[in-house]
Amino acid sequence: MRSFKGRDILSLKDFERHDLMRIFEVGEQLEPIARSRRNGDLLRQKTLVTAFYQPSTRTRLAHEAAMIRLGGQVTGFSDPQMTRAGDFYQESIKDTVKMLEYYGDVVVMRHFQQGAPREAARWLSIPIINGGDGWGEHPTQILTDLYTVWRDKGRLDGLRWLAVGDMRMRTMHSLAYGLTQFDCPVTFVSPPDMSLTEDLKQDLKRYCLDFSEAEHVEQAIADADVILVEPVVQPDYSKSRDERQAEVGHTPENFRITRELLSSKAKPDAILLHSLPRMDEIPTDVDITRWSRYWQEAFGGVVVRMSLLALVLGAME
Ligand code: CP
Repeated sequence: MRSFKGRDILSLKDFERHDLMRIFEVGEQLEPIARSRRNGDLLRQKTLVTAFYQPSTRTRLAHEAAMIRLGGQVTGFSDPQMTRAGDFYQESIKDTVKMLEYYGDVVVMRHFQQGAPREAARWLSIPIINGGDGWGEHPTQILTDLYTVWRDKGRLDGLRWLAVGDMRMRTMHSLAYGLTQFDCPVTFVSPPDMSLTEDLKQDLKRYCLDFSEAEHVEQAIADADVILVEPVVQPDYSKSRDERQAEVGHTPENFRITRELLSSKAKPDAILLHSLPRMDEIPTDVDITRWSRYWQEAFGGVVVRMSLLALVLGAME
């Protein structure tokens, strides 16, 4: 297996099955540190630099929490308007990251431009983790989701997935590539104008993903072991910031997972994931049902980032 030390985490296309399993196994080893809420010292001499050009609650803070849990330090920015990239200078990715590499040992970047973390990786001599790039990918979120399922079910192979939402989303792209490494058939349900592109479908066929498409969640929910939901009412991820200007629409029934739907159609042991934030696609009364796992996902998000940081910084092999 290729060593993780110094490796960039840019796309789930870059990872084979044994790489993914190694990330999960290291996560399982480190999980007691997060569960006991006691910080360790594995990364005591290391610093994480956060470069967030787009808003985030979970991705940035989970990486920061992971670094702190392992005894490391954190520096960085969450508002590019307060940097030279966001003022008169419009400083380039190259010039910015050429500075950042002297301020820490690993960078996590979120950017509104697809491919920005890969561009940064060209100039960095330290590893970089993609925290979400435009409509590109969001690999650490899907590693979190796969880890949550693996810990819950004890396996990934043989589980049938239902993925509901906007297939332009970076999480959906990382999900599709992540599932190619397992025996996990998946049905994608999205509005027609948010469906998988022909290019992506061709790529997924090359990777031998067993996938199908449906128009309504009711057509696929009964067979699903894992239901992963994302919003269809959402911002434009290619903008640096997209604030709500007016009243937003409601999610059509085709793309909503309600308590009534779960109790009438879903398998009793299916699990429901949502990376959050949500709109109305999962009403809050679902939170207390046996299917919801999004708070476990939040915990898994810290554990997976602990694993990734330990691996790319060479503290675990
Ligand atoms: N799921 C996710 O990426 O959340 P944030 O946008 O809050 O980081």
